[in-house]
Amino acid sequence: MPLTINDRVTKIAVSGIRQFSNQLVHYPDAVNLTVGQPDFPSPDRVKQAGIFAIENNLTGYSHNAGLIELRSAVSQFFKEKYKFTYKAETEIIITIGASEAIDNVFRTILEEGDEVILPAPCYPGYAPIITMCGAKVKYLDTSDTGLKPSPERLKSLITEKTKAVLFNFPSNPTGITIDSQEMDALAEVLKDQEIYILSDEIYSENTFSGEHRSFACYPELRDRLFLIHGLSKSHSMTGWRIGFLLGPEALMQHCIKIHQYNSVCAPLPSQHAAIEALGMSKDVPAEMNKEYVVRRDYIYGRLTDMGLDVVKPNGAFYIFPSIKEFGMTSFDFATKLLKEGGLACVPGSAFSEYGEGFIRISYAYAMPVLVKGMDRLEAHVKLLRQQQQ
Ligand SMILES: Cc1ncc(COP(=O)(O)O)c(C=O)c1O
Repeated sequence: MPLTINDRVTKIAVSGIRQFSNQLVHYPDAVNLTVGQPDFPSPDRVKQAGIFAIENNLTGYSHNAGLIELRSAVSQFFKEKYKFTYKAETEIIITIGASEAIDNVFRTILEEGDEVILPAPCYPGYAPIITMCGAKVKYLDTSDTGLKPSPERLKSLITEKTKAVLFNFPSNPTGITIDSQEMDALAEVLKDQEIYILSDEIYSENTFSGEHRSFACYPELRDRLFLIHGLSKSHSMTGWRIGFLLGPEALMQHCIKIHQYNSVCAPLPSQHAAIEALGMSKDVPAEMNKEYVVRRDYIYGRLTDMGLDVVKPNGAFYIFPSIKEFGMTSFDFATKLLKEGGLACVPGSAFSEYGEGFIRISYAYAMPVLVKGMDRLEAHVKLLRQQQQ
């Protein structure tokens, strides 16, 4: 028997973000604005709860779905903040980051030949899993509609093969949020369709103005909606690996089987830390958001002063300016910017072909780093424009 590799796996490429950031080691003096994790430490009380758990031998397995105390805290959080209820006993699974929740849902619902609609540019963690399941990605282009999905386009992409659609607001890579009217219009398209809805709301707590609204608020979508969430971004806990998967019991009873066999449970010390984190859900993200808003305003101001076309983001910690005027691929632009301009940003093509013509700048960095980065971008843009004349 030849030692072959699963064909679907061979077809998956290494993430475009990783491909690009692999080059960074060769440019140690470059300013790096590529990373998608908060630059704040995890809160002290969270760290103490994790240490306490380890020191007190709370280091074994938990219930597959996670500690009931943590699931209750998750349930309580959504009830208090967003006014909808998921039952701790049957409708919530604590996962290993939001990543496991995404993987779990796709593997639970997808079959060979199914189609999944992804508004794009989008987070690169979705498409490879869909491909691994033997399903097909149908991108919904948002690059010419203000980086927001058009309900008409959504409707036009739905076929008898469409199994699911995934929304991610606030968005990685664009930082875009949608308002309640825009959400209503998308929900209206979906309300009579037999299509699963995945809503990745991992950045919900990093919404800067207006209230975040969840797709879980729509009763007509609830029985086929999976809510994906977690603490990685809101509480700067990326390495603790705590995510939440919420959905109706009829669906979660299948998701739990996959979770049971691939993870058993989320790490127990992290679950204890997560209970503490949820107790601070009002304050911790709010503190970070104050800083993100200052940085967002600064970067947005600098980019518009440079004459770059950019939509002002309202959440997460990314901004996604257009570099179309320079007439090169985003990979070439980002590589040139790194090599000649000393600044690393992620090429938009890492977020699907619909990110082509853009770059993603992360502002999960301290102000002095951002100032230096923007100075370098400005000088580079000026040079490119001179060369174009
Ligand atoms: C939109 C989005 N979803 C999910 C994830 C994965 O989150 P986690 O680290 O909790 O697995 C990320 C991480 O960058 C993300 O940006």
